[in-house]
Amino acid sequence: MAGSLGGSLPPGSQPPMAVSASRAVLGPPFRLSEKGKVHMRKVLVTGGAGFIGSHVVDRLLADGWHVTAVDNFDPFYDRATKLANILPSIGHPNFRFCYADVCADNLGSLLAQGRFEAIVHLAAKAGVRPSIVDPGGHLRVNVGGTAALLELARQRGVRQFVLASSSSVYGANPRLPWSEADYDLPPISPYAQTKISAESLGHVYSHLYGIRFLALRFFTVYGPRQRPDLAIHKFAGSMVRGEPITIFGSGTTCRDYTYVGDVVKGISAALEYADSMYEVFNLGSGRTVDLLQMVATLEQSFGLRALLRHQPEQPGDVRTTYANIDKAQRMLGYEPASSLAFGMSQFAEWFRAHSALQKDPCEEPWRGSGTRVFAPLSEPSPACCPDSSR
Ligand SMILES: NC(=O)c1ccc[n+]([C@@H]2O[C@H](COP(=O)([O-])OP(=O)(O)OC[C@H]3O[C@@H](n4cnc5c(N)ncnc54)[C@H](O)[C@@H]3O)[C@@H](O)[C@H]2O)c1
Repeated sequence: MAGSLGGSLPPGSQPPMAVSASRAVLGPPFRLSEKGKVHMRKVLVTGGAGFIGSHVVDRLLADGWHVTAVDNFDPFYDRATKLANILPSIGHPNFRFCYADVCADNLGSLLAQGRFEAIVHLAAKAGVRPSIVDPGGHLRVNVGGTAALLELARQRGVRQFVLASSSSVYGANPRLPWSEADYDLPPISPYAQTKISAESLGHVYSHLYGIRFLALRFFTVYGPRQRPDLAIHKFAGSMVRGEPITIFGSGTTCRDYTYVGDVVKGISAALEYADSMYEVFNLGSGRTVDLLQMVATLEQSFGLRALLRHQPEQPGDVRTTYANIDKAQRMLGYEPASSLAFGMSQFAEWFRAHSALQKDPCEEPWRGSGTRVFAPLSEPSPACCPDSSR
């Protein structure tokens, strides 16, 4: 199915992740009870209808987890896109969907009873520039929402909490490649500040309540289902419509682009990590690509020539992002193996299929599918924290 990360891959593009011999793991996603009954391990994935979250849901279902996804279809981008993202999981016997705001007072009751072994917390207001426009909204969801989820974890005895953090926490740090051992992180956007705060909150809960907390700093994730506000997706749209793409500066800014399939493997490895109680990991590709190289790869993937429109460099733009991934390699067995050409071709394939999906938006596909939906299909319950944007 378009958008899924499963299926065969070109030789050498995605070898199985190497697992470090010293790495302790939680075991398979099921256990046998004393009476010999199979107990499925349960995981809560917030932001499960989003770009990365929906891939995580696919992977965990395939691995045999019992998955509950929470999402409020935040209007940052098209709801139809998010519905299409979760379409492959709809009807899966081990999948439940909860249409709710992670800040909602009644989130616990909406999620019904049951113990989650782990939480993968991806729900957030994403993006640096939108956070400058709406700092209060980002604070409410990214910090307030994380606090609410950690509290839920405490109440329900959850042992493992995996947080989506961001390379943005490194700000304009000139010490490349960026390392987790660098604690000098003066934030330069409200978004970055919310991720630093979420990491710190995790430390508090880990210290006080013994919840294992792993913060994963993602670096410009791309691939099928990529968010429409991100450069690769925007450029692809302009190219297909025959419109020029805007290059700020000379095109020499560099990014550590990370294929979503590699990030999902890193998240899966973090879910199984069973050593120390609090860690921060960079999940990047460990290499950088400049903007013009990225555009050239995009052109090859789409078989189209991009029209470039140059604009002056934007003040505040970081020149280079570059992850040191030694720690994740050593402790998680993380091995990002996908080339940019491979990832872009997967993105291009999805992009074409997605255009067709958009013409036929599939509203509320869970109706009659057998998938259990917890919350009513109206707007999610109001948030517990005041929204300064209102
Ligand atoms: N994509 C990247 O390059 C990147 C880089 C660094 C960090 N991240 C982080 O990874 C996570 C996932 O990012 P993504 O790119 O998949 O973004 P996304 O916007 O596609 O996914 C986030 C999902 O969270 C949901 N959501 C937002 N607010 C919510 C709320 N209050 N309650 C419930 N659901 C809510 C949205 O509807 C969306 O489906 C985010 O935490 C983001 O900050 C992403």
